[in-house]
Amino acid sequence: MRIPVIAGNWKLFKTINESVSLVKELKQLVANSHGVEIVVAPVFTALSRVSEAIDGSVIHLAAQDCYWEEEGAFTGEVAPKLLRDAGCSHVIIGHSERRQYFGETDLTVNRKTKAAIAAGLTAIVCVGETLQERESENTFTVIETQITGSLFGLAGNDFNHVVIAYEPVWAIGTGKTASDAQAQEVHAFIRQLVSRLFGQSVADSVRILYGGSVKPDNVKGLMAQTDIDGALVGGASLKAESFAAIATFNI
Ligand code: PGA
Repeated sequence: MRIPVIAGNWKLFKTINESVSLVKELKQLVANSHGVEIVVAPVFTALSRVSEAIDGSVIHLAAQDCYWEEEGAFTGEVAPKLLRDAGCSHVIIGHSERRQYFGETDLTVNRKTKAAIAAGLTAIVCVGETLQERESENTFTVIETQITGSLFGLAGNDFNHVVIAYEPVWAIGTGKTASDAQAQEVHAFIRQLVSRLFGQSVADSVRILYGGSVKPDNVKGLMAQTDIDGALVGGASLKAESFAAIATFNI
């Protein structure tokens, strides 16, 4: 019922040419994939060239961030409709690196999410606790605050354009994946919370991705969990072979 999403977050890596080569290689390797929504998120400058390269393939294009205004005197920002113009169907919002290094808050995530949905993009909204928050047993409180604030004011049908990504900060880029059980526990909590806030049918249909050191050898165990509907992949998405192995976890 929930089509899995496997999304590759390329972060601040790769030139335009490198991005195009990577996605062309990926296109071949995932040509036989089925029943999975495959997404790649290159840097802004590579978006339109990657969009041309994936034309006619099963791969979807995401940006790594957006602004909430459509246009105006906002130097350096990129509006959701311009991402559509560059060929994007998805946008990652509120990644922990943006929250940590660029002052992203639940309020700005909320504004961006609403603007992305209004422009027809699917927002991949990220939440996740730090190691200190986990160790002080505040994981659920932190996740509840982030989900409530980030998704505030959305209507039920907005969720056709929302994917949630749970990414424990301590597992990002560290090689320390949450165990299948640790991830499932938080995913189940998020689904119950979504049910409480937005109703059971939204909770049943919203995809919740896990992110944090997902690799070809741990994706199957994670994907076997009831409430894990996909993965947001950083490091392992920078090589076509490893990302394709993750994206074809079900073959
Ligand atoms: P990682 O990154 O797979 O390298 O841990 C995940 C992410 O930041 O989305």
